[in-house]
Amino acid sequence: MASTPLASFTILSLLLHVATSCVSAQSYEAFRQCFLDRTIRDSSRIHSPDTPSFYSIHNATIRNSRFASTSGATKPAFIVTPGATLDVQAAVTCGKANGLHLRVRSGGHDYEARSSYSNGDPFVILDLTDFRSIAVDAAEGTAWVGAGATVSELYYNINTQTKNDTLAFTGSLCASVGIGGFIGGGGLSALGRKYGAAADNIVDATIVDVNGRHLDRKAMGEDLFWAIRGGSSASFGVVLAYKVQLVSVPPSVTVFRVNRTLGQGLSKLVEKWQTVSHDSSGDLFIRILANAVGAGANRTILATFEGMFLGGHDDFLSVLQNSYPELGVEAKDLTEMKWIESTLFFAGYPTTDKTLLLDRRPYKNRTFKGKSDFAREPISVEAWDKIWKYLLDAEDEVLQIILSPWGGKFDEIAEDALPFPHRKGNLINLQYFLFWPDSPDEVNQKHLDWMRGFYDFMAPYVSSNPRATYFNVKDLDLGTNKLGNTTYSDATVWGKTYFQGNFERLARVKARVDPESYFWNEQSIPPFSA
Ligand SMILES: Cc1cc2nc3c(=O)[nH]c(=O)nc-3n(C[C@H](O)[C@H](O)[C@H](O)COP(=O)(O)OP(=O)(O)OC[C@H]3O[C@@H](n4cnc5c(N)ncnc54)[C@H](O)[C@@H]3O)c2cc1C
Ligand SMILES: *[C@@H]1O[C@H](CO)[C@@H](O)[C@H](O)[C@H]1NC(C)=O
Ligand SMILES: *[C@@H]1O[C@H](CO)[C@@H](O)[C@H](O)[C@H]1NC(C)=O
Ligand SMILES: *[C@@H]1O[C@H](CO)[C@@H](O)[C@H](O)[C@H]1NC(C)=O
Ligand SMILES: *[C@@H]1O[C@H](CO)[C@@H](O)[C@H](O)[C@H]1NC(C)=O
Ligand SMILES: *[C@@H]1O[C@H](CO)[C@@H](O)[C@H](O)[C@H]1NC(C)=O
Ligand SMILES: *[C@@H]1O[C@H](CO)[C@@H](O)[C@H](O)[C@H]1NC(C)=O
Repeated sequence: MASTPLASFTILSLLLHVATSCVSAQSYEAFRQCFLDRTIRDSSRIHSPDTPSFYSIHNATIRNSRFASTSGATKPAFIVTPGATLDVQAAVTCGKANGLHLRVRSGGHDYEARSSYSNGDPFVILDLTDFRSIAVDAAEGTAWVGAGATVSELYYNINTQTKNDTLAFTGSLCASVGIGGFIGGGGLSALGRKYGAAADNIVDATIVDVNGRHLDRKAMGEDLFWAIRGGSSASFGVVLAYKVQLVSVPPSVTVFRVNRTLGQGLSKLVEKWQTVSHDSSGDLFIRILANAVGAGANRTILATFEGMFLGGHDDFLSVLQNSYPELGVEAKDLTEMKWIESTLFFAGYPTTDKTLLLDRRPYKNRTFKGKSDFAREPISVEAWDKIWKYLLDAEDEVLQIILSPWGGKFDEIAEDALPFPHRKGNLINLQYFLFWPDSPDEVNQKHLDWMRGFYDFMAPYVSSNPRATYFNVKDLDLGTNKLGNTTYSDATVWGKTYFQGNFERLARVKARVDPESYFWNEQSIPPFSA
């Protein structure tokens, strides 16, 4: 291949770039040539650090900005934005041939930004921003959705393509989460108690595997199809699209949002909520978001109770008055609306403008750390008092605790039906979300240490042996694969925390479909074939 002045320039800047990440410039250039040779030679699909667009594309969907100032967080060598299946196949084949791992990015919401950074492993981002087509089949009650679409783009399309207010999707409460990671890790929504996880509502999928083959459910086989519904899509290939089973909701639903503080007997309210929210019918969803606010004599815990009922205003009021009168929700607190409007309500938008659902970047980019737990036994009033005190005492830490109800449909699905294992026996789900302004490394470290201390403090109140964590609240503190190597035994602690008894089967599927662990990241499933 003749070396044009442009190509020499590219190689020079690549040399400068890779000097820090210890990978030869040749392998990057070889990847680029291989990719162009196997596709329609559209070089606008590859973005390297010497193109001005590289950094803004890299940043575009990163939701956790912590890694911009984390030492050792490695940026991609290239970003590929495929326009066709052929491009994805070429990226896999050329990445493998040149010793460059791929990290697939759909919505970029990974809690540890593993779709945008690595811990030293040289890699290429395959950003599915152009894999967003959505085709809804109203008669069948299904939709094919490109992995790069957001959950709210799907909500919008269900609404506009079917003009039927009773068809819905079990999508996240935050509007801009990507389909690829959300379903690949399970998928929790306000409809979860009625219909289970998003992964429970998938009927087909297409994937490009490690050999560059484009496979649907039938061709990939039931084991691999099982694994990519909650077992970490990133470990098994590139999911191009999922076929979603839509669920049915009434023509109108009813929502509320009320605030309560310590002075209103918060610990007793939360203690009661644990059993009420778990034992009620799947039509009811009430979650709590709590954090410390104020200073001095005004310091308290502010808890926002948010709820949705799959039914009308008056029915919801009587359900609340019968089962949970302590919360004190009144008729004026309840608003009846269409389900599509409730997705705007939970996302914190005005419910009048559906087009906001098409905004892919609505959320603040903030530096954060998340962790999650499940509780199988009710947490006592005294324990809640202690938990609030922990938050009140930590004046430099803004921790939000998000409490989500369990039970309902989750109780009816077997623990091994899908990799997502959090089923019968769990009472509530807890999520801890600590955020702080973008800061230098040592400040980040101080907050991360505090968060680890809080997680240890919570241990007596939550499930154990193994402690249970939702995979989509990814937490690298639980353990990581070693760079360039992945062993099953090293991974079992974090693997069982996320997947419980399903971890071994995931590792066996991995051994069958990707024995060399080409699809590798700090918490990819290791192969196990003993
Ligand atoms: C603000 C916020 C709110 C959230 N709210 C909810 C919620 O209400 N309910 C809930 O369940 N979760 C929620 N999450 C968690 C969310 O489900 C996970 O972070 C999820 O993995 C994000 O998917 P993504 O495609 O946006 O992320 P990405 O960062 O693109 O991907 C996440 C992981 O999946 C891999 N991956 C992504 N797409 C593919 C693909 N097509 N093929 C193979 N691997 C792929 C990536 O490589 C990465 O490892 C929230 C997260 C944030 C930041
Ligand atoms: C990318 O994000 C980081 C962290 O928020 C910021 O410091 C940097 O300026 C951004 N770069 C671009 C090109 O947007
Ligand atoms: C809307 O979808 C539901 C299925 O949830 C179906 O029963 C109903 O007939 C549809 N209504 C219209 C007007 O198409
Ligand atoms: C609840 O508290 C939040 C945070 O302070 C505030 O923005 C909101 O307006 C409050 N809601 C009500 C109904 O008081
Ligand atoms: C508490 O709040 C009141 C009313 O907002 C305010 O006047 C007072 O200064 C606050 N006290 C402290 C200690 O912050
Ligand atoms: C997040 O960062 C991206 C890239 O820098 C930017 O385009 C987007 O507007 C930011 N979002 C917010 C809410 O700040
Ligand atoms: C990976 O780790 C295992 C166990 O520690 C070791 O036997 C093997 O040689 C390692 N492989 C590589 C490529 O480092």
